[in-house]
Amino acid sequence: MAVPRDRFSIKPYEPDDAQATIDIFLRAIREIASRDYNPEQIAAWAKVEDAEVWARYRANRPTWLAMDGSQPIGFADLKSDGCLDMMFVSPDYQGKGVASLLLATVEKAAREQGLQRIFTEASLTARPFFERKGFVVLAAQQVQKRGQTLANFLMEKRLA
Ligand SMILES: CC(C)(COP(=O)(O)OP(=O)(O)OC[C@H]1O[C@@H](n2cnc3c(N)ncnc32)[C@H](O)[C@@H]1OP(=O)(O)O)[C@@H](O)C(=O)NCCC(=O)NCCS
Repeated sequence: MAVPRDRFSIKPYEPDDAQATIDIFLRAIREIASRDYNPEQIAAWAKVEDAEVWARYRANRPTWLAMDGSQPIGFADLKSDGCLDMMFVSPDYQGKGVASLLLATVEKAAREQGLQRIFTEASLTARPFFERKGFVVLAAQQVQKRGQTLANFLMEKRLA
């Protein structure tokens, strides 16, 4: 059933949101990206070894949370060079426009910073989403994560 997009809101990341972003990250990989990668690859990717390091990393760059009321349901970030490093949506909220809302927020921030482009290393799972949003593949890549090789795509969107 279609869900009105204004049901969800965006808020800037705050230190108390660290565990919520970790939970979304792990569940999105284990329950959604697991369609496209094998169990060994998923186990290597879905790891947060140090929650404090994660929290520092999150706090040190613009990160936005998508919210359903007071519940975090997704997050995305933007590095100062235009790299969108993270885009993860809760398995309970797939296909409801949550990533679209997050990407619109990231794009607006990038334009305000005068960035010419946004780029990302998209998973096999996320590639169709980014293509739908005007990103193009620059290169197919094989990246190493904790001893496993994972395919992803370097993609960019030029900001007119
Ligand atoms: C990729 C991901 C972020 C998309 O989130 P989402 O909230 O479901 O995306 P949206 O509902 O905003 O989708 C926006 C559009 O992309 C399309 N889309 C999203 N995922 C798609 C897929 N796997 N295949 C085809 N189209 C897809 C939607 O159909 C929608 O199109 P529309 O605008 O015509 O309706 C989410 O599936 C996810 O968390 N995946 C697992 C984690 C992951 O791989 N993250 C990226 C790491 S690089």
